[in-house]
Amino acid sequence: MPDQPGEIVAGVLAPHPPHLIYAENPPQNGPRSEGGWEELRWGYERLRERLDKLDYDVILVHTPHWKTVVGTHLLGLPHFASKSVDPIFPNLFRYTYDLQVDVPLSEAIAAEGEREGLVMKMMRNPNFRVDYGTITACHLVNPRWDKPIVVLSSNRAYFYYSNEVGDATMLALGRATARAIAQSGKRALLVATNSLSHRHFTVEPDPPEDMSHEHIYNMNQHLWDMRMLKLMREGKTRQLVAELPDFNEHAVSECSDGSLTWLLGALDLPSYPAKVHAYGTVIGTGNAIVEWPHAEAKAAAALAMKTAEVSS
Ligand SMILES: [Fe+2]
Repeated sequence: MPDQPGEIVAGVLAPHPPHLIYAENPPQNGPRSEGGWEELRWGYERLRERLDKLDYDVILVHTPHWKTVVGTHLLGLPHFASKSVDPIFPNLFRYTYDLQVDVPLSEAIAAEGEREGLVMKMMRNPNFRVDYGTITACHLVNPRWDKPIVVLSSNRAYFYYSNEVGDATMLALGRATARAIAQSGKRALLVATNSLSHRHFTVEPDPPEDMSHEHIYNMNQHLWDMRMLKLMREGKTRQLVAELPDFNEHAVSECSDGSLTWLLGALDLPSYPAKVHAYGTVIGTGNAIVEWPHAEAKAAAALAMKTAEVSS
């Protein structure tokens, strides 16, 4: 057992439109662009500046684009390298990746998930191609790729059963994740990579980065996204989770892949305010970059309690 329990230093909502990588022109990606989607990319810059000040060992990602029919799967080998091509946008995203996995922490999450009654499985196929949601989010959060990662798949409980069953499953997976981190002694950054509202246009402008075409798909989506962000900023995550089934239905949200609920479960449904670094649309979908400064909020709460004890 480690000397100190591990902890979650921060949780982030970090959406993964491949357009944001395309617009940055990193050397790993094939297609070249003239930019675009600056509001979101500048939001990611602000997030990275914050994360650079944190000391953490590992990044955990829950991704909508590794869809597993039975249970939750985790990457189970220390190294994966290949080329990732977005199946919808191969014109924008053809990314050569080479990443390291924290296998012991992944195995500990699988063991804790089983204790919650969840079906868990380790992915040990060396030729497995890591999904583009994971790669895009990891690049945007930490383009240096200098930390090992843990990747959790998205199981289909929301679709085969209901939004309510999906959320209950993801809250249990979040609890299991938090216990495994505590046992590991490591300092972890948690990444939920999903958009908010998710209706999108089906015709692409030429060039794709022509921002005169970019706006929210409809007003319903905008109002729902603002509702969700208001609850995050007010620290009302219990209410947010209670409203998620309606949000998923009305805004066709990518939250129904479970990433955000897993994150909020791991953070024990935080009541401190989240920081919204950016909100913007990509082909009409709503995307927010949001940070829950977990270690900072816990330290502030402990200090406030101590101060109250001294003064009473
Ligand atoms: Fe997606």
